Amino acid sequence: MQNIIDYLRVSVTNKCNLKCIYCHPLSDNELSEYQDIMDTNEILHIIKLFVKCGIKRVRLTGGEPSLRNDILQLVNQLSLTEGIEDISVTTNGVLLESMAQDLKTAGLQRINISVDSLDKEVYKTITGFDVLENVTKGIQKAIEVGLKPVKINCVVVKGVNSSKEEIIPLAKMSIDLPVTVRFVEYYPTSNNSKLDKGFVPNIEIKKIIEQTFGTLDNTSEIKGYGPAQNFKIKNSVGAIGFISGRSTMFCDQCNRIRLSCDGKLKPCLYSAKQYDIRELLSKCASEENVLAKMKYIIQKKSNYNKKTRPMEEFSMQSIGG
Ligand code: GTP
Repeated sequence: MQNIIDYLRVSVTNKCNLKCIYCHPLSDNELSEYQDIMDTNEILHIIKLFVKCGIKRVRLTGGEPSLRNDILQLVNQLSLTEGIEDISVTTNGVLLESMAQDLKTAGLQRINISVDSLDKEVYKTITGFDVLENVTKGIQKAIEVGLKPVKINCVVVKGVNSSKEEIIPLAKMSIDLPVTVRFVEYYPTSNNSKLDKGFVPNIEIKKIIEQTFGTLDNTSEIKGYGPAQNFKIKNSVGAIGFISGRSTMFCDQCNRIRLSCDGKLKPCLYSAKQYDIRELLSKCASEENVLAKMKYIIQKKSNYNKKTRPMEEFSMQSIGG
């Protein structure tokens, strides 16, 4: 059976204002040189071509998307683009408090925010910066302005933020706040191989949560098109999600492709294989030819499964998950 590919994740920059250990280790200085990133018009032009290939949902990621000066313009233009039914952003939330209202006004519907710990010191150890308070204010603001749903992403690393003391406060957020707290299994990438022993399967995280709050109930009420499995603690306002890309391969259900900030189409998160759409556009005689090539790549991707997908090392920072 073929997967329907209708979700495009666009990394709008590889710059980030955090240096998370699983994404961009502090020892790595190779990424101080930034790629030649696409301008506003190039991004919009390429996304519109993807819409002609069947894309209906667009998520802006990074790096950190809020570092782009034109982020509001991008969101606004996408919200006015015929054929796009869902626009979302994944952010670390550091700058969100002052931007949430403008993002909402520009047409953003929902938002995913990375928070790996609610402990100030642990947060700093993971991200390299003492900015947890800015992020929690950003979450509050996102809820206040009506972004819905607000999802919290926590990448769990064994021995860093995997203890009960770390997991329970995060899970607890979902009891009182209208947020979905998702625990993300981290991936072996070219940046984080040193952390490889730190993998914790989500089944263990679920166990920790259930020991404190009782059996979690399955729920399908959370809007989203990604691989998360969602549950609820009894009588909670929000929900808990698990993204188990390492313990559960969900290639057979994968509905997405990725565009890097320098215009490369990446069919599979786990693979370094990519196609330079920007170059094709500058070299190809006609847009029809480029479109035909894009459709061919997407068609090929729709047949990937656990056995046929390519598997090479890649870097998380340049593609944003
Ligand atoms: P929605 O369900 O539409 O909200 O999207 P999402 O949850 O996929 O978006 P988000 O950017 O919040 O993704 C959360 C994390 O899930 C990412 O940071 C990745 O680590 C992981 N993830 C996203 N897409 C994939 C995928 O295709 N495969 C795998 N294995 N993991 C993914």
